[in-house]
Amino acid sequence: MSGFDAGWLSLRAAADMRARNAGLAARVAAHFADKETLFILDLGCGTGANLRASYALYPKMQHWQLVDHDLALLDVGKQTLMQWADEGRTEADGTLCLKKGGYKLHIKFLQRDLSRDMDGLFQNDPDLVTASALFDLVSDDWLARFVDMITKKRCSVYALLTYDGAEIWQPSLPLDEAVHAGFLAHQHRDKGFGAALGPDAPAALRSHLEAFRFKVDVADSPWRLTQEYDGDLIVALADGIASASCESGVISKEQAADWLASRSKTHSAHIGHQDLFAAPPD
Ligand SMILES: C[S@@+](CC[C@H](N)C(=O)[O-])C[C@H]1O[C@@H](n2cnc3c(N)ncnc32)[C@H](O)[C@@H]1O
Repeated sequence: MSGFDAGWLSLRAAADMRARNAGLAARVAAHFADKETLFILDLGCGTGANLRASYALYPKMQHWQLVDHDLALLDVGKQTLMQWADEGRTEADGTLCLKKGGYKLHIKFLQRDLSRDMDGLFQNDPDLVTASALFDLVSDDWLARFVDMITKKRCSVYALLTYDGAEIWQPSLPLDEAVHAGFLAHQHRDKGFGAALGPDAPAALRSHLEAFRFKVDVADSPWRLTQEYDGDLIVALADGIASASCESGVISKEQAADWLASRSKTHSAHIGHQDLFAAPPD
């Protein structure tokens, strides 16, 4: 199973925000510019970072359904969103009604294991299904079922920050190649949805959507990390990569420790992601 804690999600939020492809975001905003209200389903929402990063792209009145299997993250999300908003109240059924910079947001939270159960999520006919940093966890079979569902419902898809396997660390180290190979192998391990697509996810998502004649627009959204601004994130990321690579059996514990010690002080890192927007066929 995948394990993400609120501390890690908070640590990566600023880098995620900077990485989102602004050109693609502008095209997403233009796509929905004629609508007054938007119904949005956010899959694997964590603590609601995707909502906070993207609400300003959408019409002034928004209905969100935030879905995650991790109740602790949903609880942190509720508190974080309440503090983030200019004004907010909670309705009897748990819906948050927030105002933020002239936008009205109605937000429902749903604990759901997406690997087992997507039924019912699309009942309210969302205009848009969005997810950030989720699709690299899923399997190709799950993706096929997902695309089948959104094709029937004719929803648009906005998938952000899907890992694409590109990594450039500066300065380079002799162990980089082996560590990366071990990390990529780990990326394909089952994260709860069957064998994970990992870095193959951006291409697979595009190909499934194009097979159903969605109009797909893709753009790079890499993390560009520097020691000066992202020191803590670099340490946590390098730690995660070293451990995963070691678990894959490609490098030894000693090699992982050596690489981590050097990488924690690394000057800069480029970690590849892709953003994708897809509109259903006319
Ligand atoms: C990398 S985090 C991204 C969180 C959030 N979208 C963000 O950008 O900060 C992946 C999220 O997917 C959720 N997740 C993983 N497997 C899931 C599953 N089977 N069902 C529902 N949510 C899942 C995790 O709990 C986590 O919140």
